[in-house]
Amino acid sequence: MMEQTLSIIKPDGVKKGLSGKIISIFEENGFEIKALKKVHLTKKQAEGFYCIHKERPFFNSLVAFMTEGPIMPMVLSCENAILKNRDIMGATNPKDAKDGTIRKMFAESIERNVVHGSDSLESAKFEIPYFFNVFEIL
Ligand code: CMP
Repeated sequence: MMEQTLSIIKPDGVKKGLSGKIISIFEENGFEIKALKKVHLTKKQAEGFYCIHKERPFFNSLVAFMTEGPIMPMVLSCENAILKNRDIMGATNPKDAKDGTIRKMFAESIERNVVHGSDSLESAKFEIPYFFNVFEIL
């Protein structure tokens, strides 16, 4: 089934100049980039995006990290995009990520893990319109 998922290159990935490499990995793996922008989230915007994690002990630190510099959200599309993107990103904790995955190659820690990807269809339906309106998804 054709699906769309939200991917974000996080502040660590943007700062290290990894955005081109990461976008290439997505394209080489058959994803179409339907939308892409660079934004610097406010504290409120980051809190809203990660509201499902608001009770977690790492929430404040995660919000501080996600607002420390610009991020690059994008909409990726292909067959089974949500699961496929999660495979390519690798596990949340880079120590558990398989060789060849983005997080294994580039992530520093479970928090500073370079990329975000929607974890379900339900999440994608919340996350995509958080950053893009219908006219921006081509
Ligand atoms: P992400 O896929 O964007 O979803 C939530 C984010 O919270 C996650 O990637 C990490 O950046 C961060 N995160 C998840 N678990 C932890 C943790 N145990 N400690 C710190 N940060 C975490």
